[in-house]
Amino acid sequence: MSHERFLSRAAAAMQPSPIRQMGAVAAQRADVISFAPGYPGPDAFAWEAYRTIADRVLARRDRDLLQYGPTRGYPPLIDALQTLHAARDITAERDEILVTTGSQQGLDLVSRTLIDPGDVVLVELPSYTGAILAFRNAQAALVGIRQEADGIDLTDLDRTLHDLRSKGRRVKFLYVVPNFQNPTGLLMSLAKRRALLAWAMREQVLIVEDDPYGALYFDDAAKASETRSIKADDPDGWVIYLSSLSKTLAPAFRTAWVVASPTLAMRMELAKQATDLCTGNFDQRLVLEAIRDGVLESRLPTLREYYRTKRVVMEEALRAEIGDAVRWPAPRGGFFLWASLAPPLDAPTLLPFALNQGVTFVVGHAFFIDHGGGPFMRLAFSLPTHDQIREGVRRLGAAVREAQASAAVSPARET
Ligand SMILES: Cc1ncc(COP(=O)(O)O)c(C=O)c1O
Repeated sequence: MSHERFLSRAAAAMQPSPIRQMGAVAAQRADVISFAPGYPGPDAFAWEAYRTIADRVLARRDRDLLQYGPTRGYPPLIDALQTLHAARDITAERDEILVTTGSQQGLDLVSRTLIDPGDVVLVELPSYTGAILAFRNAQAALVGIRQEADGIDLTDLDRTLHDLRSKGRRVKFLYVVPNFQNPTGLLMSLAKRRALLAWAMREQVLIVEDDPYGALYFDDAAKASETRSIKADDPDGWVIYLSSLSKTLAPAFRTAWVVASPTLAMRMELAKQATDLCTGNFDQRLVLEAIRDGVLESRLPTLREYYRTKRVVMEEALRAEIGDAVRWPAPRGGFFLWASLAPPLDAPTLLPFALNQGVTFVVGHAFFIDHGGGPFMRLAFSLPTHDQIREGVRRLGAAVREAQASAAVSPARET
């Protein structure tokens, strides 16, 4: 019996995450080196600290520890997040904060709370796939805005908004990842951040600012001050801010949060009640202790150096192996290198050759809502070891040469 006919229209239209699909391909073959997932390196986790904290927390035998908790989040963790915000110059009252099960849930709750089917959501070209999926699941109409080297193209943004409005379309919000964007690694300039906030106020459009990578700037390429959030300059609630501890503590804690006006935060809380009742209580307490013990703060310089070094290893390997065939903007922080292939080669053509050589990446078009992105590959340098990065890029080089050779002899290419 086929159960397809029972599906809701929304479920029938749901698409799998291309990144997770690539991960599944890599998982089938132990010999494949994967530049696909944006996972933190496991040797960057504070294993010993978490063991001590878990022991300590369990030893207390607190009756509530393994219970359900408030949907809003564990109140002492919310207090700690306020302190964390102060360091980021963000002022948020308790009723403006909602702890979420990963920022991915935050994106889902934002979608459930703000999007009616057909509402327009503006996204950068390219943009984070997980956000695209969440907005699409809520049946948003996605419209792309071009990016420049210093972030979103403000002229394209203005032109697109006015064009949409002239056609009577309702634009709900703009989604941006200003710090070391997934997938491009780009850092939006401070001037553009200020201009975006002014644009939101002038045009009465909300901004959804997603910031999981802001603390991971590379000391040789960016300063902390350059990662200042748009939210930090927003006294009136035009910005919905999301952040996560997945990339700095560990994704397994699934602990992230949203800052929004009290009205929106309350509605998201209602949506969350129907989704998972609450974020894991045990996880939140481990995270709280990790913050209180200074694990987060004290490890950040080490993490920045850890990922900066991996970026250097990947860039050196790329220059040595395929410097003539790819170009990329130097990542100034985060997990990703966004490489474009010299024509006529494109990423979907290269991918089977790469898999055959035992290396994988995410093809650019996974991040474009307009089917663009053919020349691009997202290479995540965060998870593999230095040796794996070198070997993976060597394999990528071999794949590029094979693909180029086959394109050169292919009759289709000759015409
Ligand atoms: C831009 C962006 N937003 C959100 C997420 C989801 O993170 P979390 O682990 O907090 O759900 C990711 C994860 O890769 C991301 O890159």
